[in-house]
This record gives sequence, structure tokens and C-alpha cells, in this order.
Amino acid sequence: MNLEYKYIATTFSGLEEVLENELIELGAENTHILTRAVSFEGDRTIMYRTNMYCRTALQILVELNTGIVNSADDIYDLVMDVIWEKYFRPYDSFCVNAIVNQCPFIDNSLYAALKVKDAIVDQLRDTFGVRPSVDKENPNVMVNVHIYRDKFSLYLNTSGLPLFKRGYKVCAVSSPLNEVLAAGMIYLSGWPKNVPLYDPFCGSGTILIEGAMIAMNVAPGLYRDFFAFQKLKSYNRAVFNEIVEEAKSKIIYDAPPIIGSDISDKAVNYANANIKNAGFSDFIKVEQFAFGDCFPEISDGYIITNPPYGVRTDKENLTDLYKLIGDTFKHHFNGFSCWVISSDKDAVDSIGLHASSKRKLFNGPLECRFLGYRMY
Ligand SMILES: C[S@@+](CC[C@H](N)C(=O)[O-])C[C@H]1O[C@@H](n2cnc3c(N)ncnc32)[C@H](O)[C@@H]1O
Repeated sequence: MNLEYKYIATTFSGLEEVLENELIELGAENTHILTRAVSFEGDRTIMYRTNMYCRTALQILVELNTGIVNSADDIYDLVMDVIWEKYFRPYDSFCVNAIVNQCPFIDNSLYAALKVKDAIVDQLRDTFGVRPSVDKENPNVMVNVHIYRDKFSLYLNTSGLPLFKRGYKVCAVSSPLNEVLAAGMIYLSGWPKNVPLYDPFCGSGTILIEGAMIAMNVAPGLYRDFFAFQKLKSYNRAVFNEIVEEAKSKIIYDAPPIIGSDISDKAVNYANANIKNAGFSDFIKVEQFAFGDCFPEISDGYIITNPPYGVRTDKENLTDLYKLIGDTFKHHFNGFSCWVISSDKDAVDSIGLHASSKRKLFNGPLECRFLGYRMY
């Protein structure tokens, strides 16, 4: 492969290793694990592929330049080092998103974005004789800037909206799981994708849908209407169409039992609407009942679930519920591998079982524990 580009795939804390595995499987070269990201090298097609297939990436970025900065002028110079006509046509619009942390001379991300914008405009006006316009809603080119202390990095965002916005969710309960986190949890659990999967607190059905996508080889990108790379000068429609067709041809129309339940009617309706929109009505079954009241007729499967957190349920009820979870796993799910994600440490302790695996993950800003219990 022609290693002409250096890329960064971003993710959530705790999912870096699963993301690296996904990238390697897709043909990424020279991968390195970073904080909430993995860097890799490859040609242009790997950028299309990673956007299409990666379940645990949030964004795929092309690295344009990096360096040490001690002043706003240093930022301007590092942006000027990039040959922008490689990425822009005359009249292409663009936007700059900046994140600045602990930088001694800039405490305002907007100011950093302005400096970057000025340098791009100055260079392109000299190159093309016309001034490119800024468009925050619908730009042709999306530029990302990260400044951490004195470390500056400049990227081209090839994804646009973060990749957890798959496009299949039409409605959600008040605390839905992020799709990237749900896919990461399924990979971390080691679910072998040919045994039953059950989520007894299924809410809007995120774990069930991500599970069906994994079992049936459905690429998450197939649901997306748009990736930012489709507006870039370098976009090769024919090559991307081939990748789309290849992804469609890999779908397997078969899955093990994938079952959800929830105490709430509304959640069951939401889950069913999302499942239908994702095309899995024939493969996922969801029923309404309280945890422990009924048991699906499955054996030797995986439970992967996201019970209510303390944020919305009072402490005492939560302790009782988590105790019930532990007792039910023990008495009704012998032979299962059971996985629970929760941000409530005390509640998790009330499960009362020995966890064979413990990891720290984040559901948005909430620090969570992801615990595995083998009921053999
Ligand atoms: C944190 S939400 C799950 C969100 C889900 N993972 C998603 O992506 O939408 C917890 C769910 O547990 C359900 N729930 C609360 N108590 C329950 C109980 N005793 N039995 C079954 N479901 C319950 C709630 O209705 C809610 O949908």
C-alpha cells in the first residue's frame, strides 16, 4: 500500500485497543495507540474504508502538520507550511474547529481558529486570486486544530459529523448509550457473534442493533447519508462506490437470537422503531417486562446491558435492582457471560458477584465501570 497519508482515528477512552484491531483488520499500517485515538498510515482508500467500516472510531482525520508553538505567529507559520491547494479548489468553502487546552498564550479556541483561518485565506488568495469563504453549516473542507500546551496539530476532518451518528436511530430514551461505546463494549466482551445476545435493560435498543450489525457484517457507514470526504477535491466517487457495493455484498442475512426487554412501554416502542429503521425487524425481538419477571428461552449466550444509573433513579431502589441483577445472573443465567456497564460504583458493588473483568469506560462525561461475570 502507498503510505501517502498519516491519519488519526479518534475514539472514547478505553476503546483504543479495539479500535487499533479494527484498523489493522482494514489494512491500516504503522498503527500507534494514543490517548483516545490511534494513528495509522495508508493511502486514500483506507480513509474511505475506515469511515465505512470502523465501529469504534468517532472521526477519521488526516494529519496535515504538527509542531511546537510559542506564539500565535507560530500557529500562522505552521498553517502556512501546508500546501492548501492540494485540498482546495478555487471557491471551496471551509470551516475551522479548534480545541485548546492548557496553552500558555491562548485561552480561547475561537482565537486559535481565527489564526488558522487567516493563514488558509492568505495562502489561497495568493494561489487562486480569490478569497475562500467560511461556511460553518455546509463547508467543502473541514479543518480541525488541537493545541495542548505547546503542541499544535492540524487535521483535515474526513468524517464530518462524528461516526457514532450512524443514521439509524429515530428516537431514544432519556439516557441512550452512545453507538460507538455500545460496539466497543460488545467487542470487549468477546461475544463470539454466533451465540444469543440478550439486553434486559434495552432502552432504545443500541446494544441489540450494534450486535446485529456485528453478527450480520453490516458496515455502520452504510446508514450514513454523508461523509465530509465526499466534498473534498480529492474525492473519487467511483472508488467510494466500489467500497459501498463491497460492504453491501458482505452482509450475511442470518443472526443468532438477539433479544431485548425493558420495563417501559415507551422504550420498547422506541427500540422497535430503531430496529425497524436499521432493517433488523426479522432478527431482533424486544418484549416489555421488568427484569427478572420473565426469561427468554435461550442458553449459553451473552448478556450485555446498561441498567439505569443513579442519575435518574433513587439510591435505595438502585441498590435493590443491582442486587436483583446479581441474584438473577446467578440463578437463571448459568452458562452465560454477563456484562454490565454502570457509572454507579455503590450500585455495582451490590451485584455481589466476582467480576472476571473490570474496565473503566466513559458514557459521554460519565465515568463508568464495565464488568464481566462468567456464570459457568
Ligand atoms: C440507561 S437506560 C438503557 C439505555 C439503552 N442502553 C439505550 O441505548 O437506549 C436503562 C433502561 O432500563 C429500563 N429499566 C429501568 N428499570 C427496569 C427494570 N426494573 N426492569 C427492566 N428495565 C428497566 C429503563 O426503562 C431504561 O430504558
